[in-house]
Amino acid sequence: MKAPILGIETSCDETAAAVVADRKVLSNVVRSQIQLHAAFGGVIPELAGRAHAESIAVVIQEALDRAGCGLGDLGGLAVTHTPGLVGSLLVGLSAAKGLSLSLDLPLVGVNHLAAHVYAAELTVPKLTVPVLEYPLVGLVASGGHTLLLRFEDPLTWTELGGTVDDAAGECLDKTAALLGLPYPGGPHLEKAAAGGNPAAVAFPRSLLHERTARMSFSGLKTAVLYHLKGQDGGRMDRPQAREGLADLAASIQAAVVDVLVGKSVAAALREGVGTLVAGGGVTANSALRGRLAERCKEAGLRLVVPPMALCTDNAAMIAGLGSCLLAAGRRDGLDLEAVPT
Ligand code: KG4
Ligand code: ZN
Repeated sequence: MKAPILGIETSCDETAAAVVADRKVLSNVVRSQIQLHAAFGGVIPELAGRAHAESIAVVIQEALDRAGCGLGDLGGLAVTHTPGLVGSLLVGLSAAKGLSLSLDLPLVGVNHLAAHVYAAELTVPKLTVPVLEYPLVGLVASGGHTLLLRFEDPLTWTELGGTVDDAAGECLDKTAALLGLPYPGGPHLEKAAAGGNPAAVAFPRSLLHERTARMSFSGLKTAVLYHLKGQDGGRMDRPQAREGLADLAASIQAAVVDVLVGKSVAAALREGVGTLVAGGGVTANSALRGRLAERCKEAGLRLVVPPMALCTDNAAMIAGLGSCLLAAGRRDGLDLEAVPT
């Protein structure tokens, strides 16, 4: 077995560290800041950076302990350096650089978005993941990003297109807040949608029929706002909608799912690939997983979605893609920069 790689992820509001060897996840520790940001209804960058700084050392220690691995056993370090909140990225980068310097270990910076797709290559206990066939198309749908990428191999990708405004997760979070659901809204909206009629309200599916990978979710957010206010511009504290919460939540979820599935399948067919990989926090959504599976089957595409714990932000995907980069000879110096976009 190759020497294990320690991965560090602090791009947004999860402080995460993981140890991965030969595509096997030996440990995967995620300390979420959800409670900290919930009162504000969104991530406050200053608070996020401070919380990462407070947690990073203990999260790394826990990842090593759970993997049964000491610092001396490591073969390298991988750290998210783009994209993300700059103050948050810098905390992970500083930790990784400090370890690299003191242990004389190779260091590599990892792109968080490509890592969400690479997560499909990782194996976790009791689950054997099929080896991916390239080229493939990857969908990344999270709170901060929604885009489609074409991969020639795990290290070579091009962007096909993505949202021109809000990310899918951001839209789910904001519309869930309009419905009075807690932050982050995505998982709450999914629960609220159970048993609801997804056709109760015909919310817009912007750009769905345009033959490009461009997506847009801000119109949906506005449509939900005006639907709740009623045609007469009623007050938000007295919503006018006649439908119940379940029907509204199911209709919003269906609009987001239709766009993500339609755009992803169309992009995979246009690109002539046989495999579609979906990653990012929104792909934890069961309605999205179910619809993607149906449509991929109809289209003759192989669908690979990582297990739930590897869909939302984690450091195993960073360690995994970092291992590939290190194996290909990629190295970054102590001057590795945080690149927010
Ligand atoms: O990838 P991620 O953990 O962090 C970012 O990089 O943003 O994604 C977080 C996003 C949030 O918008 C959250 O509401 C959404 O993923 N999400 C979900 C579900 N679980 C997380 N959206 C819909 N259904 C879910 N079950
Ligand atoms: Zn993410």
